[in-house]
Amino acid sequence: MPASSSDDYLLHVRDLILHFSTRRGIVRAVDGVSFSVRRGETLAIVGESGSGKSSTALGIVRILPRNVARYTGSIVFDGMELMRMDEEEFRRKVRIGGISMVFQGAMNSLNPVLRVGFQVAESLIVNLRVPKQEALRRAEEALELVGLNRSVAQRYPHELSGGMKQRALIAMALITNPKLVILDEPTSALDVMTQANIMNLLKRLKRDLGLTYIFITHDLALASELADRVAVMYGGRIAELGPADEVYPRPRHPYTKLLIESVPFLRYDRPPTFIPGSPPDLIEPPSGCRFHPRCPYFMKGKCDVQEPPLFRADGEHWASCWLLEEGRDA
Ligand SMILES: Nc1ncnc2c1ncn2[C@@H]1O[C@H](COP(=O)(O)OP(=O)(O)O)[C@@H](O)[C@H]1O
Ligand code: SF4
Ligand SMILES: [Mg+2]
Repeated sequence: MPASSSDDYLLHVRDLILHFSTRRGIVRAVDGVSFSVRRGETLAIVGESGSGKSSTALGIVRILPRNVARYTGSIVFDGMELMRMDEEEFRRKVRIGGISMVFQGAMNSLNPVLRVGFQVAESLIVNLRVPKQEALRRAEEALELVGLNRSVAQRYPHELSGGMKQRALIAMALITNPKLVILDEPTSALDVMTQANIMNLLKRLKRDLGLTYIFITHDLALASELADRVAVMYGGRIAELGPADEVYPRPRHPYTKLLIESVPFLRYDRPPTFIPGSPPDLIEPPSGCRFHPRCPYFMKGKCDVQEPPLFRADGEHWASCWLLEEGRDA
């Protein structure tokens, strides 16, 4: 497994499982996910919608819906095992100054009746008991840091454009000086120009503040702009994990290969292809390799029977595919 206990690492997630109970049965949204994040790097988690990206992030920050059926594994953040912490310790050591998250679709969940500055300052006031005036001053600084005018603090959410709201959410995430920022599809609701501006902001913040990001997206081309390493999720598991400059030019999992070929931006030498079939049902996932019903390299009697472990392709590059055991390539 890709593991290291060195201090270079800020986060180790091992065998994370997060299942939900529904009337139809148990949804295995996250089903044995492991990865690590180094200090100062950006790990992109990419995959089709429904592959378990958001659930993985929610599992890390322990924001769980009521219908959780199973939540197990190990999450070591900054040397601390989060799974053993009670809620109070988690709040003190993780929610404040530890891990901040910009939630998918959060632009629409800003409180319409509260001024933006107060919403950015709120966690300082509520969690850190910073006096209100001081917290509001720091909120203005945080707004400035993300490229907004201080006066935005006095405005209400409906007075802001989509891009401004997204910047305010990033300010809100940064105000507690977190060590790790998780961004879940932070630009997917924005037009292309605004998306590019937000990506530039994220790059600048990474460079200037030395931030560590987990950047979640369904868009492989977007991930390539920010990622040092990439984890490709498929059906609640990691299909491939490796340095971005190895995974993009030389994907080792058939799913990643098809995903890259489906993005015109990344492969302009031929027309984009589409991945046949549909994403797996996470209540009754396919036997063996979850990708087997869609895989052009499917080996009967092997891929449909045994689940492939993550095999080392080279150095830090791993893929969960039996082809690697056989020394073949997709
Ligand atoms: N609270 C929940 N109850 C039941 N199923 C859920 C819940 N949250 C997510 N899911 C399901 O878990 C799977 C993974 O969802 P999600 O983590 O949101 O994927 P992604 O972020 O990659 O689109 C999907 O099938 C989704 O419908
Ligand atoms: S294990 Fe088999 S089915 Fe799965 S991706 Fe590899 S070749 Fe395809
Ligand atoms: Mg999601």
